[in-house]
Amino acid sequence: MTTATPVTHAAAPAVTGEGREHDVAGMFNRIAKRYDVLNDCISLGMHRGWKRAAVKALNLQPGQQVLDVATGTGDLVQYLLPTVGPTGQVTGVDISDEMLNVARQRFGQHTNTTFTLGSAMALPLADNSVDGAIISFGLRNVDNVPQVLAELARVVKPSGTIVSLDTAPDPWLPGFWWYFNLVMPTVGKLISGDNAAYKYLAQSTKAFVTPQQLQTMFANAGLSHITCQRLAFGSVAVVKGVCN
Ligand SMILES: C[S@@+](CC[C@H](N)C(=O)[O-])C[C@H]1O[C@@H](n2cnc3c(N)ncnc32)[C@H](O)[C@@H]1O
Repeated sequence: MTTATPVTHAAAPAVTGEGREHDVAGMFNRIAKRYDVLNDCISLGMHRGWKRAAVKALNLQPGQQVLDVATGTGDLVQYLLPTVGPTGQVTGVDISDEMLNVARQRFGQHTNTTFTLGSAMALPLADNSVDGAIISFGLRNVDNVPQVLAELARVVKPSGTIVSLDTAPDPWLPGFWWYFNLVMPTVGKLISGDNAAYKYLAQSTKAFVTPQQLQTMFANAGLSHITCQRLAFGSVAVVKGVCN
């Protein structure tokens, strides 16, 4: 018999600064079982198109190895697997064991997937070990964005692509803040019971770097051929760069 995990009403993590990994992991542990349903609700299903666009930007080939950092419930894996095919390999890394448990339930039957507990700040992978890496709705949550970009550049082979998909603090329609501040936490609370987690989504988006600033960080990490694609009226951005 399975019992439902009780929802606790802990405060949301701080939205910037060092040392918040433990709190961020705790928040995602709490919402793991409801995360995928909530994504569909709060993005009105649009996150699927954004994720397809981000995976396309990786320019992966069949047989290649790809790293999905902050993989969460492995939602990107459904788009990565068909791209690398049965001879390719998908590795997911995340700091939340409950999110990873959902990922393993979803994709554990695919022998070319691996889900590992670990931090984007110190990736548990060797230098030059993967052909590409993606971080989707993850960079906003890390302690130190330049350190994570340096880690991604370390593990991706020369000529491999690194992609970030994330929300942007400078959307083109001001009405998005109304949606972020009011609608998302309300829907989030109704479905997950965790109002703090979905307030954190708006607060961490406001505190995050702009896509323009993120492109500069990509360049500072030694990446080249940097591009940015804004989606959903600028509220979401796909930033990509190539390792040298
Ligand atoms: C909003 S979810 C995104 C999940 C998935 N990538 C997606 O697009 O649906 C953010 C994920 O980042 C993970 N995360 C946050 N900080 C992390 C870090 N420092 N290292 C690895 N994962 C991290 C969280 O545990 C959570 O699973």
